[in-house]
Amino acid sequence: MKRDMTDLIFHINDPVTVVRTYECAGAGADGLNWIKELPDEWKSSFLVVDSEVGRLFHYQMQSLFSSSSGLYLMDAAEELKNTFTLDQIWRSMAGAGVRRDTPVIVIGGGLTCDTGAMAASTYLRGLRLMIVPTTLLSMVDACLGGKTGVNLAGIKNQVGTFHPAEMIVISPEYLDTLPGREFRNGMAEVLKTALIGDPGIKTIIQEVSEAEFSSDQILEMIERCLKVKGDIVSEDLLENGSRMLLNLGHTVGHVLESASEFRLSHGEAVGLGMIAEAAIAVRFGGNSNLPEEIKHLLEFCGLPTEIEGIPSSEVLARLLQHDKKTRSRGRIWALPFDWSDCRLIHMTTDQEEEILPDALSSLRA
Ligand SMILES: NC(=O)c1ccc[n+]([C@@H]2O[C@H](COP(=O)([O-])OP(=O)(O)OC[C@H]3O[C@@H](n4cnc5c(N)ncnc54)[C@H](O)[C@@H]3O)[C@@H](O)[C@H]2O)c1
Repeated sequence: MKRDMTDLIFHINDPVTVVRTYECAGAGADGLNWIKELPDEWKSSFLVVDSEVGRLFHYQMQSLFSSSSGLYLMDAAEELKNTFTLDQIWRSMAGAGVRRDTPVIVIGGGLTCDTGAMAASTYLRGLRLMIVPTTLLSMVDACLGGKTGVNLAGIKNQVGTFHPAEMIVISPEYLDTLPGREFRNGMAEVLKTALIGDPGIKTIIQEVSEAEFSSDQILEMIERCLKVKGDIVSEDLLENGSRMLLNLGHTVGHVLESASEFRLSHGEAVGLGMIAEAAIAVRFGGNSNLPEEIKHLLEFCGLPTEIEGIPSSEVLARLLQHDKKTRSRGRIWALPFDWSDCRLIHMTTDQEEEILPDALSSLRA
């Protein structure tokens, strides 16, 4: 049965953000459906493209490349997500003669989306933007909500803007070439979203193993995640309140990721972070079965549920300082009390010192 696909529309900003999903063009097709159906007004856009995606899909994206007004191919490496790359994109835009009415299309994973969108939001004080996410993580999360940014002095996303895309294109073909580890990174964000606002997504995760996911199930999963995120960011674009819930799993996750010197991938660390943060929530009255339920689902996704080395209290305290929810005394934590019941809790540093070691011990291998 053919899926009935309609646009998702989010009132995040003016103009609204439209999410449009395209069917796969099928094996042997000479182009991607989203490119064949691209409205004329976007055809001569300036393109920022993940270089790996440009290489893998060069043949299918040829017509887009040739009608564009310029192309910047970006290597997706966290150490290149910086102001130098931003400067290179601006210069490339200048060289291509980009004007105020030249739109920008960014095609790639979250890293390219964040950097390319920041270039679009700052060049000539802001250009129209379309995002075509190509990793699962960027499809379910990074493409929507307008956060752009680059790293500075080793700190992630330290400078950035809010510049929501006018159009987001979901084209599932891109997932065919995605390495398994990258797919699993995305699944951690899917589980996070299920926990925050749509427990029904659990059944999609549970019913099927990665290899047997049908394209329709993946699209349903992506759309349901985008609905949860879209509703939250439509209420709180600038992250003054409820948007902080989207950081679930990330407070402990970022600490573990840094402490492991990035041997743990982002998704692996966020998965472990969700277990630890559910254990913290139990201390405040949360569902005591939740840490085990999260572990079970992470195992389904092929993500780790324990680690060898737990960082010491000193390392924890130092790394937590970089968390963007840090306030003058302690931090705001997004804690999962139960499915669809995540709360923002302010913990003082004294409380953190008392509670964290216990919560982290639940991750010990
Ligand atoms: N703006 C937001 O709201 C938001 C939310 C979450 C994460 N992020 C950011 O997203 C970034 C992580 O993004 P990511 O997980 O998508 O990873 P990524 O963009 O770093 O891509 C991971 C790897 O996959 C490759 N790749 C991309 N698409 C591919 C495809 N279709 N086939 C084969 N290879 C492909 C890339 O070249 C790269 O090597 C981080 O920098 C994070 O800060 C932003």
